[in-house]
Amino acid sequence: MPFPEQFLQELSDRNDIVDVVSSYVRLTKKSGTNLFGLCPFHSEKTPSFSVSSDKQIYHCFGCGKGGSVINFIMEIENLSFPEAVEFLARRAGMQVPEETRNDPQARRREQLLALNKDAARFFYGCFRAPGGAPAQEYAMRRELSPATVKKFGLGFAPDTWDSLVNAMKQKGYSEGLMLQAGLVRKGKNSGVYDTFRNRLMFPVFDVRGNVIGFSGRILGDGEPKYMNSPETPVFSKSRNLFAMNLAKKSKLGYVILCEGNVDVVSMHQAGFDNAVASLGTSLTPEQARLISRYVNEVVIAYDNDGAGQKATQRAISILEKLDLKVRVLTMEGAKDPDEFIKSKGADAFRNLLAKSEDHVDYSLRNLQSKFDLSSPESKLNYLKEAEAFIAGFSGRAERELYAMRVAETVGVSADAVRQDVERLRKSREGRDKRQAEKQEMNLAGRSPVKTIRYENTRRAMAEEGVIRLLYRDPQLFDNVPPLSPEEFSVPALGNMYRVLSAQSGGAPSMATLSGSLSADEIALLTILLQKPETTANGRKALSDYIEIMQTERQAQEQSEDLLSLAKNLRKKKGYTDQDGN
Ligand code: GTP
Ligand code: MN
Repeated sequence: MPFPEQFLQELSDRNDIVDVVSSYVRLTKKSGTNLFGLCPFHSEKTPSFSVSSDKQIYHCFGCGKGGSVINFIMEIENLSFPEAVEFLARRAGMQVPEETRNDPQARRREQLLALNKDAARFFYGCFRAPGGAPAQEYAMRRELSPATVKKFGLGFAPDTWDSLVNAMKQKGYSEGLMLQAGLVRKGKNSGVYDTFRNRLMFPVFDVRGNVIGFSGRILGDGEPKYMNSPETPVFSKSRNLFAMNLAKKSKLGYVILCEGNVDVVSMHQAGFDNAVASLGTSLTPEQARLISRYVNEVVIAYDNDGAGQKATQRAISILEKLDLKVRVLTMEGAKDPDEFIKSKGADAFRNLLAKSEDHVDYSLRNLQSKFDLSSPESKLNYLKEAEAFIAGFSGRAERELYAMRVAETVGVSADAVRQDVERLRKSREGRDKRQAEKQEMNLAGRSPVKTIRYENTRRAMAEEGVIRLLYRDPQLFDNVPPLSPEEFSVPALGNMYRVLSAQSGGAPSMATLSGSLSADEIALLTILLQKPETTANGRKALSDYIEIMQTERQAQEQSEDLLSLAKNLRKKKGYTDQDGN
């Protein structure tokens, strides 16, 4: 049930893409009419994400994502098309259209959320029931108070194969829904069995308070230690953080990022109600963005081991890109915050927080500790790495300051380090620019969208041209016999042709197309529209393109005919190999 074109047009008029994108990405003007920023959809150091104000589209040269303001919201907020439309309608104060209520994807999500909520209630009940003794004992052993259990809604998945299945069936949920939620699995024969058994259950909430999934910890030792819900339409591990629903209400004004669920719970219990953890993966840019919606400072408190240090460096580089102030907490005498608090107390942890260092100091100190600075050679090696690190800072003053500090550590002149750093920076900029140029050149040949293949480049380029003209100047097609989508060698381009030619008069906008084309098709359309095309000589260009399409098509058909002829001949002569070739 598509939305009326006119409605979508008004929606996109009232949600200027530059405004909308700006609330997620810091955009700066470089040259021409496009604005640039760091792509929110992949990790990068130099901006390849562009927004065009006149075309009202965005496009990333790095990862290939692109489209209208609606696609942007779908992608960044993880919404279906009708949900994104509703989101933007709200934003612009427009009447929320009826269609969303019938959106099957949105309805499915509601069902999944209802099921998860009931499952969380079930686990919670099991924890308190007499059968919950093993979980209660485990919680006691980990020093989790009843108030903490309640605050986090911790539960117990009984050691049976069907407790949850039966309880949820009684509530009217289907096996299909339970399977999709990852709460049950398909058995060898028919039927399903509980995914989580004999585990302490941590419900995972989104920031709106919905139960979106679960983490189940084994009671004691054993493998796997944690089981997490799989990715579902409501559960995205990369876009959510454990306990963010609580931390967002904290008055502390920053967030403590740690590794484990138990760390989070135990920190909250000790009064640090701003602790969060990622959901079994390393920190993602989406999670960083989520944090930056609520605070502008993060303290990383990862485990005190090699893996924790590596994860800290990765987290720093992700957080720092969002202009978050990043500090790092270093612990001694305990492997993680949970253990530290249990053995040394909340006040000692508060001291660590107060002593936590700025991420640059942390990184430099970390780097330095890898070198023994007594020999000139190792000094030089340290210097080299430190310079490479400092060259990455975007602020000149920042680079100067740290160059001075490193110079002092090594015992060389500040000027020497400063010059090295600036030289490195220049050569990097040159390299980035060359890379960007190469990327743009690559767009000319293969399909710029990974999932779409261009078998015959010449034919595909002509097809792209037809689409560009049809988008820019549909009237050119008035006196031309209509093409059929099947005449396109690239099905995605054929589909664009079909959708574009069905649009009623007026220039189509990306927003009105967002509902009829797939995300990949929108991305491709966005890219191909950025290539130059003059409409001045449109009629001639169009007939050239169509001619290329037709001659290439004939050539291809002929060679296919020849191939099959040859194949038949060989067959007759008995030369066929096993594949029939
Ligand atoms: P304990 O203190 O040992 O109870 O655990 P923890 O909650 O502090 O977690 P830990 O530091 O061991 O692990 C950090 C995070 O990694 C956990 O919260 C999980 O999200 C994830 N994780 C740990 N072990 C597993 C595992 O076996 N499988 C999966 N999928 N994730 C795990
Ligand atoms: Mn732990």
